[in-house]
Amino acid sequence: MAVTTEKSAGNGTLTADSIEFIPVKPEQMKAKPDENRLGFGKIFTDYMFVMDYENGAWRNPRIQPYGPFMMDPASSVLHYSQSVFEGLKAYRAADGSIRLFRARDNFERMNRSCERLCIPRLDVDFALAAMKRLLRLEAEWVPSAPDTTMYIRPTIIAVDPFLGVHAAERYTFYIILSPSGAYFPDGMAPVRIYVEDEFVRAVRGGMGFAKTGGNYGASILAGAIAQEKGFTQVLWLEGVHRRYIEEVGSMNIFFKVHGELWTPRLNGSILPGITRSSVIELATAMGVKVFEKDIDVYELFDLGARGELEEAFGSGTAAVISPVGMLRLQSRDLIINNFQTGPLSQRLYDTLTGVQYGRLTDPFGWTETL
Ligand code: COI
Repeated sequence: MAVTTEKSAGNGTLTADSIEFIPVKPEQMKAKPDENRLGFGKIFTDYMFVMDYENGAWRNPRIQPYGPFMMDPASSVLHYSQSVFEGLKAYRAADGSIRLFRARDNFERMNRSCERLCIPRLDVDFALAAMKRLLRLEAEWVPSAPDTTMYIRPTIIAVDPFLGVHAAERYTFYIILSPSGAYFPDGMAPVRIYVEDEFVRAVRGGMGFAKTGGNYGASILAGAIAQEKGFTQVLWLEGVHRRYIEEVGSMNIFFKVHGELWTPRLNGSILPGITRSSVIELATAMGVKVFEKDIDVYELFDLGARGELEEAFGSGTAAVISPVGMLRLQSRDLIINNFQTGPLSQRLYDTLTGVQYGRLTDPFGWTETL
C-alpha cells in the first residue's frame, strides 16, 4: 500500500494547509483519562476535524474543539439515515511512535459506502491528511497501556433541513477520536453467539456491504434479545434462505474446519471488513488454505457435532480477533474447542496485533508511522 503524503492531498482546492485551526480555550482542555479504565468509545479528545459539503463541493475544513453540533431538527440524516461511517485505529508502538493500519483502505471503503448512500465522495488523500493532522495534534491522547488504541471514527451525515426523500445537497464530514480499550469487556475471552433465524440484517441489493448507521440500527433489537439470553452478539443469516452465514453484529466470522479457514464470501450483503481481508492474507501467508464461500449453518452444526469444527472467531477493527466459544441455533448448542481460544485464532491475533503495534515486521505494507 502506498503511503499517503500530505503534499498530494486535496482535489485542487483542498490541501492540508487549508485546514483552519480553532483552538480550545485552555480552561476547557480535558484531563487525560486513566488508560486502564478506558472502555470502548466512551471518551473523546479535545479536538475534532469538521468539513462541510455545500454548493457542490467539500469546503471549510477545520479542526475545532470537540463538541455538539447545532442541527436543524429537519436534517435529513435524522429522518432517513443518509450517513456513512468508518472505524480505524492508531497504535502506540513500544518506541513511542504512533502507527496507522491500512488507513487508506478505510477511506476507500467509505467512498464505496458514499456511492450506495448517494453521498458525495471524499478526496481520499485529503481525508487522510486531515486525519493525520488531527492525530498529530492529539498525539498525547494516544494511549500506551497494553491492548489500548486510539479508535478513529470518520463520519458523514446529510444535513439538509428538508423532509423530502432524496439525496441531500448539504453534508457534514467529521472525524472524532476515542482512546479505547477492548471492544468486548472480557477482552480475548471466547464469546457466546446466538444464531439469529428470525430477524435479518440486510439482503442482497440492500445496503449490507456499506458501512452505514442503518445496518447497525437494524441489528439492535436482535442484539438486545440475544444479550438478555446471555449471548454477546448475534450471527446473521442470509435473508432469503435463512441458512447461509453472513456476519456477526460488529465483526466478520471465520471457521476452522479440517485445518482450513472458511469465511462467508462477499455477496453484497456482508461488510467487506479490512480486518477480514487482513486475516485472509495472514492465514494464507501462514500456509492455511482459506475459502470464501457460502456456509450453511445447519451443515456447520453437523460438522461441529462430529467434532470437525476446530475453531471459530470474529474479526473486526474494534473486535480485532475475537474467539467464539459457543453458538446457539434454535435449541441446539455447539461448544467450540471446549470454549477455549484455538491455536490458529491466537496466532492470528498475535501476528495481526504484532504488525499493528510494530512488534513484528510488516511484510504487507499495511502500516505507516504517523
Ligand atoms: C469497527 O469494528 O470499527 C466497527 O465499526 C464496528 C462497530 C463498533 C460498529
